[in-house]
Amino acid sequence: MKPVQIAEGIYDVGVQDWNISDFHGYSTPFGTSYNAFLIVDKQIALIDTVKSPFADRLLENITAVVDPGKIDLVISNHTEMDHSGGLPQVVQRIGEETPVYCSKMGEKNLARHFPGRLNLRAVSSGAEISLGKNTLAFLETRMLHWPDSMFSYLKEQRILFSSDAFGQHYAGFEKYDDIVGDAIMPHAKKYFANILLLYAPLILKLVDQIADMGLAIDMICPDHGVLWRHDPKKIIDAYVCWSRQEPVEKAVVVYDTMWNSTQKMAEAIAAGLYEGGMAVRPMSLRKWHRSDVMSEVLDAAAVVVGSPTLNNGIFPTVADFLTYMKGLKPKNKIGGAFGSYGWSGESPAQIAETLESMGFDLPEKGPKIQYIPEREALAACFDFGKRIAGQRAGERR
Ligand code: FEO
Repeated sequence: MKPVQIAEGIYDVGVQDWNISDFHGYSTPFGTSYNAFLIVDKQIALIDTVKSPFADRLLENITAVVDPGKIDLVISNHTEMDHSGGLPQVVQRIGEETPVYCSKMGEKNLARHFPGRLNLRAVSSGAEISLGKNTLAFLETRMLHWPDSMFSYLKEQRILFSSDAFGQHYAGFEKYDDIVGDAIMPHAKKYFANILLLYAPLILKLVDQIADMGLAIDMICPDHGVLWRHDPKKIIDAYVCWSRQEPVEKAVVVYDTMWNSTQKMAEAIAAGLYEGGMAVRPMSLRKWHRSDVMSEVLDAAAVVVGSPTLNNGIFPTVADFLTYMKGLKPKNKIGGAFGSYGWSGESPAQIAETLESMGFDLPEKGPKIQYIPEREALAACFDFGKRIAGQRAGERR
């Protein structure tokens, strides 16, 4: 894909990764992009690079705008290898003495990734570099989502280069929010739920900090997906909403099954939740990737987890999901645990223990059914779902 001029003298020279389907354990059926930005002014600056296998394509894109040898400085907003993997190759091409500006933690982290290969220069929040007509200012955003993360802000054109924040794993020729429209929001939500959720309290502080600084933002350019030129406030407001984790009247019933018994229970529980007034979707971990389930968990009021008992424990896919969800620290949920078993039946109690350790409120003991759930057992599952929905309705009153 050719470079795209996004503002006066500013180009997106990044690349599309159409075929990536797994981004360190997060499913990316729409691929992703590694956005990188070239600012052509009296001094020429490159903001971020790309994953190392795409470095040649990045250099081709830069060459379509300027001779890469004319780049005066590089900004690294984030050390993770999807943005810094191409740095050594780029620096080799543009000149090994080219300064690479990064946060203080970025200096440490980039040195650990590429020892002795980069001319690193640390900048702190508030530092500025004049490029000529344009001025770049920096804001450290530690732990959003790595210790080294920072934003770069182009003052005169009011453009925020936000690294991973406000991004989406979405490859496309459509470069802007107004072209993709609301269809981009599920991608942004999934990104938030799977990458940023555990840092939600820091995001709320950062948004307040940006407001206190009076930072006017006409465009947000994240390092993945579309750029927010039409309505940057929309994604900032969405981040505030997602960070507050105020649940909506929705439940997720997530489960796996061996001989369909836990599946029958899941569907009966979901029917009960629906009857009790909640939107609900039973999500089999054979069909749904853990990262898709997390998107639904983000704003769900209730998360009900089911597993058969296998070898005295939780079925592996469900254990995988619980570990993943626990790491992302979702808040303000009620939970439930259920499952079928043959002779020992430990899994519901083990699931309940995990959910409680995450701070979920478990108001009802979930059903545990031996072998095959018949009519009476399924009615008990239905009632369990309905009671969970009732608990949620009680919380709202
Ligand atoms: Fe897109 Fe944290 O890297």
